[in-house]
Amino acid sequence: MKTLKQEQTAAEARAVRILRALANPVRFRIVETLADRKDCTGPQLLRALTVPQSSLFEHLAALREAAIVQTSGEGPDRYYCVDPGTLDFLAAYLSGLGQRARSWSGLVERARTEAGMQIRDAAIEDATAIARIYNQGIEDRCATLETQLRGPEERAEWLQARSSRHPVVVAVDSAGVVLGWGSLNSFNPRPAYDHVVDCSLYVAREQRGRGIGDALFGALEARARALGYHKMVLAAFPTNLPGMRLYERHGFLTVGVYHEQGMLDGRWVDVIVMEKILN
Ligand SMILES: CC(C)(COP(=O)(O)OP(=O)(O)OC[C@H]1O[C@@H](n2cnc3c(N)ncnc32)[C@H](O)[C@@H]1OP(=O)(O)O)[C@@H](O)C(=O)NCCC(=O)NCCS
Repeated sequence: MKTLKQEQTAAEARAVRILRALANPVRFRIVETLADRKDCTGPQLLRALTVPQSSLFEHLAALREAAIVQTSGEGPDRYYCVDPGTLDFLAAYLSGLGQRARSWSGLVERARTEAGMQIRDAAIEDATAIARIYNQGIEDRCATLETQLRGPEERAEWLQARSSRHPVVVAVDSAGVVLGWGSLNSFNPRPAYDHVVDCSLYVAREQRGRGIGDALFGALEARARALGYHKMVLAAFPTNLPGMRLYERHGFLTVGVYHEQGMLDGRWVDVIVMEKILN
């Protein structure tokens, strides 16, 4: 316990103090009530909450000690109010934790250093590897409603037909082996949709779960921003857990679900539509 205390930063200690004080249903209600009413005297709080007088003042003292509640005045005219700065601090601290949990940079860095991974623009010579990896995604039936397998020639033509606004990127290891690919695709040819871009992401079966998808997706987002897109969109299967986790971690929000949108191997498949506003 002593060691933990020594390791704690001031911000951690403050967050723990606030959380401890709030980890009680009555105190939580007191804070909610004060947040709504702005300020209250003790008797007003007693009327608002069915709680014995003695315990109310104990709770208020604990909340004051954690700087969640402030007072002004004395005696029966003493007013209690919430210190919004304390709650803002806690919210920002927890939000920072959420962002750290969402950030995949540690694993991505490991994948980069272990495999010497690099992300670069795809070249025509990558067509065979791109076809192989795409076909794995098609065969796995976890990613796309596409069922037609592709060959190197078809993918080479596909690569050649891409405009500069619709790049394809590949992740390669130190030996130059393609580990995965991603692309920015036209969402809709109508000019009004020019600010929106769709994306695809495929990692070779044997390379999944090592942060490569995350790194590729980060690169795609950076490309989309550099190209001035306003929004990225994608369609995924709700059952594609790795994909869903990855997209959510990158801040994509679900727009909705097309129910029974496709038929794969005699089964209806739902398709989830997601988006992220970039600027
Ligand atoms: C979806 C895909 C691109 C993710 O790429 P990846 O390199 O495997 O993913 P990452 O290693 O970056 O990790 C992504 C998340 O999925 C999780 N994950 C990875 N493989 C997983 C598996 N087999 N089962 C469950 N979760 C898995 C990771 O743990 C991580 O989530 P977390 O941070 O919450 O733990 C890859 O699995 C893939 O190519 N799948 C087939 C094609 C596809 O689904 N494309 C997307 C179409 S929408």
